[in-house]
Order: sequence, then C-alpha cells, then structure tokens
Amino acid sequence: MHDKKILVKCTTDLQTIFKKSIFAKKLVMVSEKDFISTDFASIEKGSFQWSSPSNIALVKYWGKKENQIPANPSISFTLNNCKTITKLDFSKKETNDTFSFDLLFEGKPKEDFKPKIQKFFERIEKYCPYLKQYHFTIDTENTFPHSSGIASSASGMAALSMNIMSLEKALNPTITDDFFYQKASFLARLGSGSACRSIKGNVVVWGKHDEILTSSDLFGVEFPSQLHENFHNYQDTILLVDKGEKQVSSTVGHDLMHNHPYASTRFEQAHTNLSALKKVLENGNLDEFIKIVESEALTLHAMMMTSMPYFILMKPNTLEIINKIWKFRNQTNIPICFTLDAGANVHVLYPENVSETVLQFIQDELVGYCQNGNYICDIIGNGSQLM
Ligand code: DP6
Repeated sequence: MHDKKILVKCTTDLQTIFKKSIFAKKLVMVSEKDFISTDFASIEKGSFQWSSPSNIALVKYWGKKENQIPANPSISFTLNNCKTITKLDFSKKETNDTFSFDLLFEGKPKEDFKPKIQKFFERIEKYCPYLKQYHFTIDTENTFPHSSGIASSASGMAALSMNIMSLEKALNPTITDDFFYQKASFLARLGSGSACRSIKGNVVVWGKHDEILTSSDLFGVEFPSQLHENFHNYQDTILLVDKGEKQVSSTVGHDLMHNHPYASTRFEQAHTNLSALKKVLENGNLDEFIKIVESEALTLHAMMMTSMPYFILMKPNTLEIINKIWKFRNQTNIPICFTLDAGANVHVLYPENVSETVLQFIQDELVGYCQNGNYICDIIGNGSQLM
C-alpha cells in the first residue's frame, strides 16, 4: 500500500517536471493543421539562399501511403559535400490567382524541372497561402554532377523548403526556430519523402517509431540520443557505378509496395531494424551496424526484384564492388560496409580512423568498377545552411 503511494507520487512528480521541461513541448502531438499559417506582414520583394545536403538512409523508406506518409520509419546520415544550393528571389505581383515562377538550373532556364515545382507548390499551398502573392525566381545548382546518378530531389526539395520558410519567417517573425525547422521538413516531405531528412541534424529519423518518442510521420527529427563517438565524422565514399537515367523512378517503386507480397513483413522489419540500429548508434557496435545496414540495402533491392512488375537497379559492377568489400573486410577486419539507394551506385561507409587504408583500397581495387573512375568522398554533416 505504502509502496503504491510512493509510486503514484513519483509518477505525479515526474509528470510535473516533464510538463515543465523543454521536451514536453516537443512531445505534444503535432498535426498537419499546426502547419497552416495565417498571420502575415506584407513584404514587397527580397531574396534568400540556402544549401541543403543529400542524405543516405541506413534503414530505408520504401513504400508510402496517401500524402507522402511513409509506410515505415527510416533513419539516415546527413551528408556534407553533396549539396544543392538554391537562391529564391521573390517580388509581389498584381494578381494572386496562379503560381508564378522561373526556374534556373546553374543559371540557365530549365523548363523540364518546372512541373515538379508546380506540383510541389500545389501540395504545399494550403500550408503556405502566401505563395500565390509572389513571383519567384528559383536558381538552383548541385555540388555533384547532375548526371552522377545521385538523386538531387532530396537536397533540392530541402533547399527550396528552407527558402520558403525564410520567406515565411520574414512575413511572420514570431515563429520559433523549432517551428521553422519542423515546418521546413514537413514541406520538404511533400516534395520528396527523403528530403525531410535533409533539414537539420547529422542523424535524422522520419516516421513514427515506438522507441523514438519525438518521431513523426509528418517530418524528420534529429536522432534524440547521444551518437557514439565511433560515428563521429563517419565517411561515405560514393562509387559512381552508373550515371544513366534510372529505368524505374523511386515514386513508381514506392507505389509497387502496394499489393507487394512481402510488404507487411518488410514494414515490420524496418521497425525492428530501427530499434536495433538505435542501440548501435548509442553503443558504437560496428559489427552490428554493418549487419543492419547491409541487410537493409539488400532488402530494398530485394523488394524491387519481387515487385510486379519486377526490376533490377543494381549493375554487374555493383555486385563486383560488394564482393570486393566483403573480401577486404574478411581479410583486414576493418569495419567497412556498403549501402545502396535506388540505383546502381555504392555508398561505402567506414569510420574516420581507417579512412587512409580504405581510400587506398578503393583506389586500388574499386575505382575500376566506377564509370570513368568517378567517386565522391563525403562525410556525415549537419544539415541545411543559410548562405
Ligand atoms: C531508396 O524520397 O526519392 O532512397 O517520396 O517518391 O520522392 P519520393 O521518394 P524518395 O525515395 C527514396 C527512397 C530511397 C530510400 C530512402 O532514402 O530512405
């Protein structure tokens, strides 16, 4: 009886502390309605510029519901060097019945990017009702070659969303930093799912997961635990195996997870893998890290191969590289592993303290499998930056 009372008292005390704590605010369930903005000042014209990085998923997002809601939670390392830099000029226009924008890629008009932006504006209009009041010039460029097979949709949609949030902040200076970044991620998600993980933080979770209390299907959140020092400055060398246009886009691939024979098992597995990876990122166990990350990469491609219609995005050289990595790891015990996104390129992941040996291995044994010998050295980074 006595014990029970103490327990009740403790719980009440904890609740009081909890409500007062800074984290309490973050745990209040945020809904889509919270992102509908209404109070605005009037600004004639201006300009912002943001850079946003690409990210590489460790537990993969593959399959989605209506309105860009992921079928399972995912987690990614934010990259540092592969970025999109986007400048947004805006000026008030006479009428506000349509979206009006010019799109430049590396300073030159790029008509074929426009439908994607038009669709993005349509999706986010409800949350950013000021968009039709302005004419925009969107000038965008990537730090990685356009034809590298590295998807620019994540970094591109993130950079555009950051700029839109800078405009919103100019129109309504009372919004908090938390809201600023959360809504930027929310908007980016509506442009491209994985883009919501390119806003802020070096490890980002997107999608509701029981053990990550702040996680949400609506936006990405920073991995809430302390990242083990083994992962500080983690390296990602991207081997450019095939720079060609993909035969099947990610959007079509996601769609094929509807009625996929293994879908429900796969979505459950992603939850389990994220639980396990959470522990690994906290305790630094690199052997476990390798098992989860490589299994996730191969599962992603297994889902593609078992869709109807089925497809294969790996190339013979992708498999050659994977086998070489396994052989090198067996021989040296160096904790190097690979992951893949929806394409043939291979991301080679390894800790900073072995980078010299691994780069030598890449140059000696893997570069020959890259198209024109091309690869990009990247490292875990912190997210979008105002320029
Ligand atoms: C394999 O984010 O490109 O890279 O939401 O349709 O734009 P859309 O898809 P996208 O899908 C990325 C899939 C992936 C895995 C991942 O990044 O989690």
